[in-house]
Amino acid sequence: MEWRGKPVWIMRRTPEQLAGLKKIENQLADPNSQRTAYPTPDYAKNEVRSIKPEVFVAVGICSHLGCSPTDKLAAGPQPSLPDDWQGGFLCPCHGSTFDLAGRVYKNKPAPDNPEVPPHMYLSDNRLLIGEDKKA
Ligand code: FES
Repeated sequence: MEWRGKPVWIMRRTPEQLAGLKKIENQLADPNSQRTAYPTPDYAKNEVRSIKPEVFVAVGICSHLGCSPTDKLAAGPQPSLPDDWQGGFLCPCHGSTFDLAGRVYKNKPAPDNPEVPPHMYLSDNRLLIGEDKKA
């Protein structure tokens, strides 16, 4: 899936993964997505960065130099990740880490959370990327 030529991630998160988001909030640079360089629409300015808590939608581009972070969904200690890792994404070029809401960890090269594109649900199971108002 792409939006304006950029890759878009769409991921269904489990209840355990959603619970993990709360555990590491104090390690994040902008947990409530208040920064504006990479926009988060108002409807995703919450702790899960989404309309439906379980469905995460974001542009899969790192805010440092534009690489694509790779998914590291398994929780637990592993190379290049903190011991209390709850699942998330790792940018391989310079080591920025993001949680499963795309929120960047503190003191990493990436300054901001990746963008959340405009999106809306046309029905319970139909998601439209690129627009967020009914025409
Ligand atoms: S491009 Fe992601 S950390 Fe450098």
